[in-house]
Amino acid sequence: MPKVKKAIIPAAGLGTRFLPATKTVPKEMLTIVDAPIILYVVEEAVKAGIEDIVLIAGRGKHAIEDFFDTSYELEDKLAKDGKAKLLDRVSKIRDQANIISIRQKQAMGLGHAILCGLPIIGKEPFAVLLGDEITMEANGESNVTAQLVKSFEETSVSTISVMKVEDKDVSKYGIAEVEQTSPGFFKVTSLIEKPKPSETLSRWALPGRYVFDNTIMDILQKAKPTLNGEIQLTDSMKLLCQTQGLNAMTFTADRYDAGDKLGYLQANIELGLKNPELRDDLKNYLLGLVTRI
Ligand code: G1P
Repeated sequence: MPKVKKAIIPAAGLGTRFLPATKTVPKEMLTIVDAPIILYVVEEAVKAGIEDIVLIAGRGKHAIEDFFDTSYELEDKLAKDGKAKLLDRVSKIRDQANIISIRQKQAMGLGHAILCGLPIIGKEPFAVLLGDEITMEANGESNVTAQLVKSFEETSVSTISVMKVEDKDVSKYGIAEVEQTSPGFFKVTSLIEKPKPSETLSRWALPGRYVFDNTIMDILQKAKPTLNGEIQLTDSMKLLCQTQGLNAMTFTADRYDAGDKLGYLQANIELGLKNPELRDDLKNYLLGLVTRI
């Protein structure tokens, strides 16, 4: 049975739901409660059993790779700022996984970013985690990447996660057209990147978690730019579903779209409520606030 031990985390583009980020502060480095978004994403991959994590960083994204470096300056600063807990989290991750950084020299889309990871992925299967979304174990389920890895290791078929969205959100996502095979599991029959709601009957959107067998790399190598002049992962997945096959699964684990303004606020509130140091004060604040709005 194939084992998934590698993952690619492409740096987020501006996307359609972007939070403003500056040249020096990529949105993956924005803080949710007490750690940058990217740390949660890397922790998700490690919990899914991933050992080699390839960060694909483009222009203005140095801060992401620097964050995982053993750096005297960073560690000294974190220690002086009383952020020993964050330092512990980063050190733990460094012990558990190899974090490798590859530079995407041209911003040519998500498909191109993934292809940049080929020298490390080689011929192996791999997970993809978009760097501005976070998923976490909840409702008795492990995080979404762990679920996809498990499904792939059982079936050997590339598997992506899907979630139901409302009509107004269809054009913000890649949308999968699917046939249900069992409760929560689907066979993907087609895909379309950011369609108008009238262009597809499906409301199954792609929240940015995927596990692929290596065929997708062959397809991406031949792919041509389409929407916005970019090599779209969605186009290559469409070819994959027509050839090797592509499965989809839905989830009830928690997911935060930390790259979206509302999603970012929700992530801070919900993860704040899960934080033992903040939980009681934040809960009291929210309960008081509710009576005033
Ligand atoms: C990308 C993908 C899209 C996916 C989305 C999830 O779009 O192209 O298929 O649904 O991420 O976040 P972006 O948000 O980068 O425009």
